[in-house]
Amino acid sequence: MHEVKTLGVLGCGLMGSGIAQVAAQAGYRTIVLEVDQALLDDGLGRIEQFLSKGVARGKVTEDAKAATIANITGTTRYEDLKACDLVVEAIVENLDAKKDAYRHVEAVVRADAILASNTSSLCITELAASTTRPDRFAGLHFFNPVPLMKLVEVIRALTTSDETHRRLMAFAQALGKDPIVAPDRPGFIVNRLLVPYLLDAVRAYEHGLGSLEDIDKGMKLGCGHPMGPFTLLDFVGIDTTYYIANIMHDEFREPAYAPPPLLKRMLLAGRVGRKKGRGFYDYEGVKG
Ligand code: 3HC
Repeated sequence: MHEVKTLGVLGCGLMGSGIAQVAAQAGYRTIVLEVDQALLDDGLGRIEQFLSKGVARGKVTEDAKAATIANITGTTRYEDLKACDLVVEAIVENLDAKKDAYRHVEAVVRADAILASNTSSLCITELAASTTRPDRFAGLHFFNPVPLMKLVEVIRALTTSDETHRRLMAFAQALGKDPIVAPDRPGFIVNRLLVPYLLDAVRAYEHGLGSLEDIDKGMKLGCGHPMGPFTLLDFVGIDTTYYIANIMHDEFREPAYAPPPLLKRMLLAGRVGRKKGRGFYDYEGVKG
């Protein structure tokens, strides 16, 4: 196996662009793939914007910004991933779409290249088994916003080799992250604890525990959380939380993971959070 020098990232959405950015900032030659040029331009624009804000805040130098951007190549062609030692997939949470993407990647990369998925909900062992390299496959779960959150969960499939696991832990550290080892169970470690907490906040609100603002303020000021549960739900996305909760509920069959009725209705009403301008709170006119 080659040391990781060139990284491929599948998907330049919120997570993919963040992963590409931190890898390029850490000096990796990074090739990021999107399905079309418009989505690619959006994702690369997001990286540029984040770095520019970093410069404005005095957190990033102009030179570091230029070096980061120079390390990133955007593409819509799988052939351009040929030289990648590691490919991190961060596309839609759809098993068939992921399997299809892996087929395309495996047609071009070396046999010893490692594949990793940033999935937050799908079974890593099932994803690994869909490839021709189940020993060189694992989960690499980043947190939003990727450039600011220190954590990466490294998830071993039943088939992941010790060497692959070692390399991914080292890769996460080289990105400046602080990785933890998480099991291939729905929610891994963080969402296993976070999602029931968020669902519980919605249930408590439905039962009249307090206003959205007071519950948020309670958890922020009383527990030192950076965001209260409703601000965090809007930030993560009602759709994403609902989806993960259902997968956890299907697997564990425990009421703690059952999405409360209000969450489903918000999803049906299109109030999925910040990204759509409305969730528990209204973000019309709020940028980002
Ligand atoms: N470039 C460089 N640094 C930047 C920056 C930029 N563009 N933007 C912000 N920063 C730095 C700031 O300078 C600041 O640094 P400092 O602490 O040294 O002063 C730090 O980042 C925090 O920035 P802000 O003060 O602007 O913002 P906040 O203090 O409000 O923090 C936040 C923002 C980090 C998003 C914080 O609110 C937070 O941690 N929220 C919770 C996020 C969370 O829980 N994420 C996980 C969601 S779950 C998930 O992703 C899993 C999935 O599977 C669902």
